[in-house]
Amino acid sequence: MYALLRQLLFLLPPEEAHAFSMRMLERITHLSVAERFFLNRTHLQGKPYEVFGLKFPNKIGMAAGFDKNAHYLKQLALLGFGHAEVGTVTPMPQPGNEKPRLFRLTSDKALINRMGFNNNGVKAIRGRLEMWRRNTAHTPFENFIVGGNIGKNKNTPNEDAGRDYKICFTELAETVDYFTVNISSPNTPGLRQLQTKEGIESIFYPLQEQNAALKNPRPLLLKIAPDLSEEDLFAVVEAALSLRLSGIVISNTTLSREGLRSSAKYTSEAGGLSGKPLFDLSTSTLKKVVRYAGTDIGVIGSGGIMTPEDAVKKTEAGASLIQLYTGFIYAGPSLVKGIHTALEEMG
Ligand code: FNR
Repeated sequence: MYALLRQLLFLLPPEEAHAFSMRMLERITHLSVAERFFLNRTHLQGKPYEVFGLKFPNKIGMAAGFDKNAHYLKQLALLGFGHAEVGTVTPMPQPGNEKPRLFRLTSDKALINRMGFNNNGVKAIRGRLEMWRRNTAHTPFENFIVGGNIGKNKNTPNEDAGRDYKICFTELAETVDYFTVNISSPNTPGLRQLQTKEGIESIFYPLQEQNAALKNPRPLLLKIAPDLSEEDLFAVVEAALSLRLSGIVISNTTLSREGLRSSAKYTSEAGGLSGKPLFDLSTSTLKKVVRYAGTDIGVIGSGGIMTPEDAVKKTEAGASLIQLYTGFIYAGPSLVKGIHTALEEMG
């Protein structure tokens, strides 16, 4: 059924298709009978999994960027996701880059995006998350895990980036279950340059200080790019280990355009590439990190999961949890169900 719906959705520009389909799902799930239907199905899916000191309802998460403003948590839970990363959230609201900024590379089962952290700003998102917590207390949605993926505003220079991350942390500390520090988006000029020992420490030291003062300190994770040289990658992992971070999300989108079949009209667009062509690169990065760090740090595998088999491979490569985005656009909700079955069979 999704194949047919996808044909229609793919007639729309990608960003409009995303907004339209989520609005549709929102409408459907508003009906309590539909909610009960989805909930019954969802409850059969997956089994709880403990990592970073948190109990995830299952291993599948929606990656950052899909629900930038925390609008669709209920829908994602109903579709069978166990967690979602909201954001990337920045201190001030910002419109992101000019449209068009999202492109489908259908022959490659990929997307290129240069959204540029378009989001409502941390205050509005905090308000929405507070409402989510109030409305879901003592309901089946209570166990759904929400990660806060935080970033800096476009016009904040890298020297002051730490301040932006700290603002986002402070605002969201009581409403998210864990934090992911995003310094790996290719669409905020200079951001990836923070992927050094010094850059990482300058952001995490203040966060850790604040975190330690919380009654329930939150797990802190770092999201990295798949484009780091081996030397830079190990420096980043070393920094994460010495800071005793809870985990690493591997990986964000890539700047590589290797092996693409789509027309140059699309492949030459600036931005980060996601989907099928990202799978090998992000998985080999993940394997390197796991080989280097062993079990000292948790890993979330993100990048190119288009089929249940891909999810199994990511898990076998060492991912404790997985996240998807592009695969969901191409395959629809049945992918989530298929992954649950495949992971369950894996044991
Ligand atoms: C993303 N991604 C992303 N990541 C992040 O940390 N912050 C963000 O704001 C966004 N925004 C975003 C927008 C769009 C349109 C896409 C396609 C992707 C990256 C995403 O979370 C994920 O890590 C990558 O897309 C790789 O996974 P998939 O898409 O190959 O499953």
